[in-house]
Amino acid sequence: MGHITIDADYIASLDSSYLDVEYAETLPPECYTSKEFFEFEKEVLFTREWLCVGRDDWLPEPGSYFTTRTAGEPIVVARNQTGEIHAMSSVCQHRAMLVAEGSGKARNFLCPYHHWSYSLEGELLGIPEMQRTCDFDKSKFGLPKFKIELWNGFIFINMDLNAQPLAPRLEKVTEAIASYGLENAKGEKPELGPEFSWNWKVMFENNNDGYHASRLHHGPLHDFIPSGLATFPEADPADAGYLRFNGTLHSDASFNPTQKALLPIFPGLSDEERNRVTFANVPPSLSLVMTSDLVIYLILRPTGPESLEMDTGLLVAPKAMRDPAYQHKVEAIMATAAKIIDQDFHVDVNVQRGLRSRYAVRGRYSWQEGAQVQFNRWLIHRFRKFFGATPRLRAVGS
Ligand code: FES
Ligand SMILES: [Fe+2]
Repeated sequence: MGHITIDADYIASLDSSYLDVEYAETLPPECYTSKEFFEFEKEVLFTREWLCVGRDDWLPEPGSYFTTRTAGEPIVVARNQTGEIHAMSSVCQHRAMLVAEGSGKARNFLCPYHHWSYSLEGELLGIPEMQRTCDFDKSKFGLPKFKIELWNGFIFINMDLNAQPLAPRLEKVTEAIASYGLENAKGEKPELGPEFSWNWKVMFENNNDGYHASRLHHGPLHDFIPSGLATFPEADPADAGYLRFNGTLHSDASFNPTQKALLPIFPGLSDEERNRVTFANVPPSLSLVMTSDLVIYLILRPTGPESLEMDTGLLVAPKAMRDPAYQHKVEAIMATAAKIIDQDFHVDVNVQRGLRSRYAVRGRYSWQEGAQVQFNRWLIHRFRKFFGATPRLRAVGS
């Protein structure tokens, strides 16, 4: 595939992916491989949408901080002395060294290169030997700040300081998962995840694909969540997220060899909720897989057109960790999950290879792929809006 120009005409060519699932075709292969398309997504999605970066309890006390990165932007998130969370770019405003790495506790951020220092809110404090520098206004060189919003214990940031709040556009998802009480759920902070060699949308789609469950994952570890019981609650493309429910053949189904919940189930789940797996999606960064005893969350962080990093975390009911056998049970669950994840990753890497081929086409969908069309609509709605809202159409990345 040569270079492509992303303009209003190009976006109009995606309309056939916006249709109902019976009529829709997949996005063009270059949406998953092209540098230009990725640059466009960075501008339209990653700098304007709410991005999940972690959990509230990763910042247990004043001075706690963690770092992450997405779509080329290094980020630091910190809790200040009064308990507020602040998120900002970690790029030093002197000569671009990163002022923080990893996670920990700090009184302020000291850039290791020339020792400029910044407060936990990003304000520039210390500037050694800058007294001879003319016309230097220290107040203008703080770390660029991001907006912050908490949703169900997840920290979201937005690089667009004028962005509308997230929660009002997530009402249906919020309501559907309310019984889990995720703001009180427990879970360790996962390591910053490894890098994979496929497009972030390949990952998002794989996790939301009802169609493959009974095929790729056929066997005793997954057959109790059959593709035929997938449903796709209606979502407005302007919503920030959407759901997929997948009915199960017995209640409290869970990914382990017993096929039943091993950990205490989330209190307050209804019978209906205990007889399905709920997939809650807040693109472009967060996807939740919710069983009665365990919520697996994926935080997707693209690193390029054909690569992403992903943090995989677990959340359990507030008292679940008190079980002396908790760790062993989680290990048993994750050993099973790993087998399923291996099957998915094998597909993801080969789908990316396929998408690079001259023979890759715009395919058609089964009804069991309703979530892919919801994802297409979420994307295309924003792409259209970008061009609609821009007075002069311009080609991005060309
Ligand atoms: S790059 Fe940070 S102080 Fe120079
Ligand atoms: Fe899968």
